[in-house]
Amino acid sequence: MKLGVNIDHVATLRQARYRSKQVVMPWAEPDILEAARAVKRGGAHGLTAHLREDRRHIQDQDVWVLRRRGGLPLNLEMAASPEILKIALKVCPDEVCIVPERREEVTTEGGLDVLRGGRQLLKSVEALRKRGILVSLFIAPDLRQIRAASRSGAEFIELHTGAFAEARDAAGRRKELARLKRGVELAISLGLRVNAGHGINYSNIAWIRKLPALETLNIGHSIVCRALTFGLERAVRDMLGRMKGA
Ligand code: PXP
Repeated sequence: MKLGVNIDHVATLRQARYRSKQVVMPWAEPDILEAARAVKRGGAHGLTAHLREDRRHIQDQDVWVLRRRGGLPLNLEMAASPEILKIALKVCPDEVCIVPERREEVTTEGGLDVLRGGRQLLKSVEALRKRGILVSLFIAPDLRQIRAASRSGAEFIELHTGAFAEARDAAGRRKELARLKRGVELAISLGLRVNAGHGINYSNIAWIRKLPALETLNIGHSIVCRALTFGLERAVRDMLGRMKGA
């Protein structure tokens, strides 16, 4: 099982301070490239970033920087919108994961509706594949959606683990894990490759890792949170070190 680290929230933190700037200034912290390099040093297998239509965290410039200098395969998450598709075809990431997007959501809340996805979704899959980009569809472990994904031309699905992660008790978690397992099995039998992501953290990973045949887990929020929690001590010490002798 590989790990793709979603670094959107590194950009979220940067945009909290520098949102008004049209371009990412070289001094803007945290530096997305530094974050990518730390992810690589940590041993991750890939970088994931979501270029949202509202540009709330990752900016166009970040995608280019990550592609050219990130040092790891890039998985670009995007809505199947003509504007973002055009950018993806130029940047040419290793992989694109098509996700649903609603402006009012805090993060990607549900899976794609591949059954009713319409022409734009299929057109996007086709255009990306023609460009040599691996395509993944972010869907709930719903058997009808998985069958529709297998007809779309995409090589991968990414199973949405949000319902599992948000289950209120162990019984709920077991039920959602069983749904995920059925989803993986069906997808594999249809010739799809399977990733998973959303809400995976340092405690529920013990459950998720029991799922068979998953290739990559895309994990963001919990890793960035842990980096903050455990990195704070060092950050404070570094600043105190530089204050000495004043
Ligand atoms: N995979 C996809 C398709 C996502 O949209 C996201 C972010 O919502 C993630 C993985 C990572 O989720 P999280 O930040 O909860 O780990």
